[in-house]
Amino acid sequence: MNDKIKGLEEKVALAKLGGGAKRIERQHNNKKLTARERVMYLLDEGSFEEIGILVTHRTKDFGMENQKIYGDGVVTGYGTVNGRLVYVFAQDFTVFGGSLSETHAEKICKIMDLAVKVGAPIIGLNDSGGARIQEGVRSLGGYADIFYRNVQSSGVIPQISAIMGPCAGGAVYSPAMTDFTIMVQDTSYMFVTGPNVVKTVTNEEVSSEELGGASTHATKSGVAHITSQNDVTALEDVKRLLSYMPQSNKEKPAMLPYETGSETREVLENIVPENPNKPYDMHEVIDGIIDADSFYEIHKDYAENIIVGFARLGGRSIGIVANQPMFLAGVLDVNSSKKAARFVRFCDCFNIPLLVLEDVPGFLPGTDQEWDGIITHGAKLLYALSEATVPRVTVITRKAYGGAYDVMNSKHIGADMNFAWPTAEIAVMGAKGAAEIIFKSEIRAADDKEAKWKEKEAEYAELFANPYSAAERGFIDEVILPQNTRRKLLKAFAMLEHKETNRPKRKHGNIPL
Ligand code: HXC
Repeated sequence: MNDKIKGLEEKVALAKLGGGAKRIERQHNNKKLTARERVMYLLDEGSFEEIGILVTHRTKDFGMENQKIYGDGVVTGYGTVNGRLVYVFAQDFTVFGGSLSETHAEKICKIMDLAVKVGAPIIGLNDSGGARIQEGVRSLGGYADIFYRNVQSSGVIPQISAIMGPCAGGAVYSPAMTDFTIMVQDTSYMFVTGPNVVKTVTNEEVSSEELGGASTHATKSGVAHITSQNDVTALEDVKRLLSYMPQSNKEKPAMLPYETGSETREVLENIVPENPNKPYDMHEVIDGIIDADSFYEIHKDYAENIIVGFARLGGRSIGIVANQPMFLAGVLDVNSSKKAARFVRFCDCFNIPLLVLEDVPGFLPGTDQEWDGIITHGAKLLYALSEATVPRVTVITRKAYGGAYDVMNSKHIGADMNFAWPTAEIAVMGAKGAAEIIFKSEIRAADDKEAKWKEKEAEYAELFANPYSAAERGFIDEVILPQNTRRKLLKAFAMLEHKETNRPKRKHGNIPL
């Protein structure tokens, strides 16, 4: 064999060995795949084309001149997932702890630039000790180069981050600016300052897991959109997420083949209980409407009073936002408003139609909520929906009270088709509270105050605890039987397929952040 060809083969083999057999073994012992194994699992067999395999760092400080490893701690390139082009980078913890050097950052930036130029998703598989300590500001600059590209790509191509190891310090801000963050249980963590700094500054004792592990971010902070049990399931999650998305904002999501059959779903008739104060699980409504097993829930364990996720309806990818009466009676509060607003904006960026299922008794009262800024945060959801130009359809299953009626994709803020079930109650507030306020003096003057209150409550309920007053005004397009919901939605979304909206020219709006 020609010596030059042999030389190349040796270099490539070395690059593929990363930090060496021992470090690879350590990665496996820690129940983690290596960077290369992750890329291979994610992409269709034989589709990966690596870019920059022979890149090395340029650092001379701290004896680094003699410690060069091809690839410099990150595997970058492109390939396909279920036949669709994606760009991917995977940090290699076996090489300097996956730390980010100037050249490591340049490799990531190169594929980010390609992804935007071509219009295809970018997937980051993060596993890194953060800024390469030996490089100082050069590595910080590298991070900023990535952050800048995250922002320029936002709303242009889908960006997905899987956190599969450490992600600390300012490094967390790249995943934070991507569209979805998936965290692997037990082996990943994210925090701006780690347990040692926390202990020094606040005297709190906290473990890495408690401070920034997957379950912390899935339940408390909402930083993680999805948690996965291990590396393999995390990569499956990436693939599933991608299946609902288009390649870029210039496209619509792929439509799966669908043959219309009987679209009546009698199961929907018996979900909403007779007693309006009894909870029910909105997941049952979702499952009764969508294509079988197509719901993919996002932020499952965070702000559970609202459900968000992707689904398919007649093969079409849709985003669902639904109040969940099982938690806090489905009220809107700070966290649920933020959660839903972010999801709505993603769907709107990428031409994914929105279905809103509404059963909301209003905003959560209390000092906690007011002091935490429910005014600003509630406005996020109102703003996000008002701004969204994708096809938007609402089904009111039960309560649509107060300001929350307006916020939850009402006709007034630009929804295209609004349906209500006969069980819908569309009013300023619940009948009991309303009667107490508007018939205060009558109730006070009555001999039997309780009976009077009940009588007035019934009077108010008769007038407003139904969908007909709203339907008479056209605020509701049609009152439908629950069993016909799927049929109506299939037709509505098909009818809205070519919807176009023209907005006044502006640089950008000013969403209440
Ligand atoms: C250079 C690093 C490194 C880093 C780890 N290594 N982090 N090398 N720069 N940031 C190297 C280690 O020296 C070691 O090399 C190998 O990677 C594996 O690390 P271990 O410590 O043996 O692994 P483990 O015990 O699993 O601990 C992982 C770790 C720890 C928790 C990530 O390495 C750690 O605390 N690293 C430093 C984290 C950090 O402070 N980073 C800077 C954050 S600030 P050998 O040769 O021994 O195998 C930051 C700012 C970003 O990132 C700002 C952006 C705006």
